[in-house]
Amino acid sequence: MGSGTALVEAKLLNRNAIGVDINPQSVSISETNLQFQCEANSKIFTRNGNATDLHFINDGRIDFICTHPPYANIIKYSKEIKGDISLLAVDEFLVEMKKAAEEAFRVLKKGKMCAVMIGDVRKYGKVVPLGFRMMDCFLQAGFMNKEIIIKEQHNCRSTNYWEKQNNKFLLLAHEYIFVFQK
Ligand SMILES: C[S@@+](CC[C@H](N)C(=O)[O-])C[C@H]1O[C@@H](n2cnc3c(N)ncnc32)[C@H](O)[C@@H]1O
Repeated sequence: MGSGTALVEAKLLNRNAIGVDINPQSVSISETNLQFQCEANSKIFTRNGNATDLHFINDGRIDFICTHPPYANIIKYSKEIKGDISLLAVDEFLVEMKKAAEEAFRVLKKGKMCAVMIGDVRKYGKVVPLGFRMMDCFLQAGFMNKEIIIKEQHNCRSTNYWEKQNNKFLLLAHEYIFVFQK
């Protein structure tokens, strides 16, 4: 859920939605961001919970999943919240993402889509293909690849930092939006 971007869009599109985030701060920020008037009369729920355990949703009930996980521990969203996967290094992060992918598969209706945004990361000067490794978690959970969308990113706040880190050589300048189908 983060700051609630997807929920805000859902409300504007008059869709019912459930947002989940492990961090209670994310829930309160999202609820603040959702306090606007529009013509929609959809139902939007926020939930402080773990994407690896969506027990409050029955099997095959969801029409669309949109998720934007942390990029392993590149940005830490909390200091010590139990279950926060932004505190995990790549291998442990992927173990949890596999569980989240299985839960996503369980709650989604057959034939419906699950969109995941993720980028690669650089460690000790080498590229870690986090995007494709995470794609594999979703394929192993039973999804099929419907689309791989490349989202270019320019002029980010961190560009100067990475230019220095990478000695002005190539920067990671894209992220992926994987669209998986159940
Ligand atoms: C990249 S941010 C999402 C940003 C969001 N797209 C937005 O527009 O604000 C990743 C989010 O995943 C959350 N998170 C980390 N571990 C989680 C878990 N196990 N279950 C659910 N959310 C988790 C973090 O608290 C953080 O808010």
